[in-house]
Amino acid sequence: MTTTPPASTFETPLKFAYWVPNVSGGLVVSTIEQRTDWQFDYNKRLARIAEQSGFEYALTQARYAASYGADKQHEATAFSLALLGATERLRIIAAVHPGMWHPGVLAKWLITADHISGGRAAVNIVSGWLKDEFTGFGLPWLEHDERYVRTEEFIRILRGLLTEDGFSHHGTHYDISDFTLSPRPLDLPGRAHPEIFFGGNSTAAQATAGRVADWYFSNGRSLDGYEENVAGVRAAAEEAGRTPRFGLNGFAIVRDTRSEAEETLREIVAKAHRPAVEGFREAVKEAGQSTADGRGMWADSSFEDLVQYNDGFKTQLIGTPEEVAARIIAYKRVGVNLLLTAYLHFQEELAAFGREVLPIVRAKEQDLAREHGTELNTDLLPELADTSAGALV
Ligand SMILES: Cc1cc2nc3c(=O)[nH]c(=O)nc-3n(C[C@H](O)[C@H](O)[C@H](O)COP(=O)(O)O)c2cc1C
Repeated sequence: MTTTPPASTFETPLKFAYWVPNVSGGLVVSTIEQRTDWQFDYNKRLARIAEQSGFEYALTQARYAASYGADKQHEATAFSLALLGATERLRIIAAVHPGMWHPGVLAKWLITADHISGGRAAVNIVSGWLKDEFTGFGLPWLEHDERYVRTEEFIRILRGLLTEDGFSHHGTHYDISDFTLSPRPLDLPGRAHPEIFFGGNSTAAQATAGRVADWYFSNGRSLDGYEENVAGVRAAAEEAGRTPRFGLNGFAIVRDTRSEAEETLREIVAKAHRPAVEGFREAVKEAGQSTADGRGMWADSSFEDLVQYNDGFKTQLIGTPEEVAARIIAYKRVGVNLLLTAYLHFQEELAAFGREVLPIVRAKEQDLAREHGTELNTDLLPELADTSAGALV
């Protein structure tokens, strides 16, 4: 399957994001050494490094109970707000589950966070797969596709309350009558409201994202798999007259040589925490694989894939800076606008990614733009710190 991204994709520099490590155990379910910490002080420093290294976004995951070994978790919206307070330019995306939150309460939170942060707060609406979190809280657990029906209503209401006076919505899951939130979000150029991201991979997820999301986030995917996702989202978006942007997750292992990078991957997998990975494999059967077509996140994941619980190895950002940059450009060709990254040792490796990989990506993006008869719009590149006095870490 091939898709042709709009011309603006090639003029616009890729955006880079990272997963906020707000849960314990790092981003791989392995006993390998991970110099990554889930507490706030570590994350505050990481966020500052990120915004000085060319990263524009950070994504805080929502987790309420242990899974994939993440025994301790910090709540996503509170953590995100604190990170916004500790940074100047970084946009922080907080993950939120419909069914746990009411869309009106979230709209109110988002407007307040938007005012406090000067327009840098965003949300990632996630439909969820960890049934025990819902049933343990005494909340209804909806069947897979019904969760996306609720999510679609949730996002329509969120956007309505952020942008309209006297908003009403009478749906299957929510009933909102003539409601006005005041104040409104900040009136900023280039946006109608704070950004609404959406994470999911299944057929229902793609269709929902196309109809209502500003940004579609996919889990780690092969190039072909990602193209399929983009095509699915785009088909639904075109029908709805919308133009969402596209994000992709990938776990980066960047080393001086390809064999060193591959050796690190082998060690991560060899030291996998087997019971935690197997427990996770059981729990994620509630995701897309529970549907009629059996497609979705983790549906075709091997044991090795699941060791990075967002399928980040599948994106294959593994090799030298040059190789990883080339791989990123291959994804840009099929429509990626934003790359969401994770690392074994977040502070050191994220800073190195900014220093060693991003300059190569930018040069390749310029070549790609010219190949498509245009120029890379360098006015849109994020500000970088002056590191002439020494490295950030
Ligand atoms: C980038 C990204 C971030 C996600 N973040 C969360 C999260 O923080 N909490 C959560 O419970 N699920 C999260 N999800 C999982 C989705 O909500 C959904 O349950 C998952 O994609 C499986 O469903 P699917 O097979 O329908 O895609 C995320 C998914 C993606 C792609």
